[in-house]
Amino acid sequence: MTQETWSAVDENFLPLVGEDAALREATVASHEGGLPPIQVAPNQGKLLYMLATLRGARNILEVGTLGGYSTIWLARALPEGGTLTTLEIDPKHAEVASKNLARAGLDKKVRVRVGKASETLEAMRFEKREPFDFTFIDADKPSNLDYFDRALDFSRPGSLIVVDNIARAGKVADAQSTDANVLGVRRLRDALAKNDRVTATAIQTVGSKGYDGFVLAIVK
Ligand code: SAH
Ligand code: DHB
Ligand code: MG
Repeated sequence: MTQETWSAVDENFLPLVGEDAALREATVASHEGGLPPIQVAPNQGKLLYMLATLRGARNILEVGTLGGYSTIWLARALPEGGTLTTLEIDPKHAEVASKNLARAGLDKKVRVRVGKASETLEAMRFEKREPFDFTFIDADKPSNLDYFDRALDFSRPGSLIVVDNIARAGKVADAQSTDANVLGVRRLRDALAKNDRVTATAIQTVGSKGYDGFVLAIVK
């Protein structure tokens, strides 16, 4: 089985995913802005939308905005009056994302906060807010566990936390790997195995984004 096959199957199912013009334009604008093409695939974005919908999420947190592609999917799951806060270190990425969100008609619901996510999350501890019902962690992988612990503090029982890129084409299982991204995933894995505040699983995926996967955790 090859990348070509995985991409062809993803392409086969695109019609049921229903990626619309605003999402496609977000991808084009991100490409034209020189952003790396590492956003979630359309079917993965739809999965995030469906999970947030199932959760009935009113408040969503995202760590790692890029051009706002996953942000658009997630924000579309929000009810009237719902909010999404997305954290991005790179002002250029945040600028492209803000334009993409405005084009999608979501700029009233979404706040893009620019800065190191660790610092923004620290500042958020002192702000009054409702808990987040859903968190998507998809930024610098060495900080996965820090972001997870923060997200957990901002959650309530029943909140869902999803972490992207946990398989890294299988490298996570290579004991020899010293890749900082892989170590970041392993640190999260080991902490989750011991954390009795959540119940968690890991799902590997193949598709147009290669071979990777998600960790999903429900707050008890
Ligand atoms: N969630 C996006 C993809 C995010 S890519 C989507 O699927 O559409 C990862 C993003 O995290 C990049 O834009 C990168 O600039 C950002 N990032 C990396 N390190 C960060 C940090 N320390 N704080 C906040 N954002 C960071
Ligand atoms: C990379 C980051 C991502 O969030 C992703 O989904 C794919 C690749 C990366 O840094 O290579
Ligand atoms: Mg990712």
